[in-house]
Amino acid sequence: MNRDVEYKYLLDHSDLFLSLPLYFYIMSIHIEAKQGEIADFVLLPGDPLRAKYIADNLLTEAVCYNNVRGMLGYTGYFNGKRVSVQGTGMGLPSHMIYATELINDYKVKTLIRIGTCGGLLEEIKLRDVVIAISASTDSSAVGRYFQGMTFAPTASFRLVQLAVANAAKMNMPVEVGNILSSDLFYHFSEEGDAYELWRRYGTLAVEMESAGLYMLASRLGIEALSLLTVSDHLLTGEHVSAEERQLNFTNMTKLALSLAE
Ligand code: HPA
Repeated sequence: MNRDVEYKYLLDHSDLFLSLPLYFYIMSIHIEAKQGEIADFVLLPGDPLRAKYIADNLLTEAVCYNNVRGMLGYTGYFNGKRVSVQGTGMGLPSHMIYATELINDYKVKTLIRIGTCGGLLEEIKLRDVVIAISASTDSSAVGRYFQGMTFAPTASFRLVQLAVANAAKMNMPVEVGNILSSDLFYHFSEEGDAYELWRRYGTLAVEMESAGLYMLASRLGIEALSLLTVSDHLLTGEHVSAEERQLNFTNMTKLALSLAE
């Protein structure tokens, strides 16, 4: 039975199921997990195969709860703590669909984006871990809500502090500051370097999701943080190899998992 048919069947036959709370069967539009199958604490990689990699290599007892659109999601344990990891796809619109459904439909309390970014400043080096204290954006997904005014999408201060402290314990150098969440990966600017303005204001790096996540976290009352590894540099044109990308990503994921309570 597909999900809509299954739901209608349950409603039509609800007298048969009086002993079972109906909400156990209600799923969201893009996530097919049943209630209770997703942990309160969820890591959000953009790439669903990264979610699988994390489940296979860093979690124990991991169970896959989502394969809708191939956007894999798993729940398992890290150091005895129950955690989930959910792919989100790329860009604010896709990321915000998953974040909204996790918060509204699955009552998730903490969302940690783990991703890659492009370095913007000279002092930001390939492989650095960036903790995004705030995320500026060129995306209308944030701007359209505020009708010409400017909202500042900001991370959870508690999670920033904890991430900085845990990174120090793990001997992992981090950079903490503002980043840019852009709608564009390929930026064909008509006026020279598209990122120069952002550099002048000290923006460390560019990625494509965090401002949407931080705005939703503020609106819907949960805690969020983005951790990013620098995979390419927009001043020098350098980028890390695929294997190094994976290794750096795994180290940063361990930092993200250390934030689970
Ligand atoms: N631009 C946007 N997002 C990114 C980049 C980039 O150069 N690198 C990794 N994520």
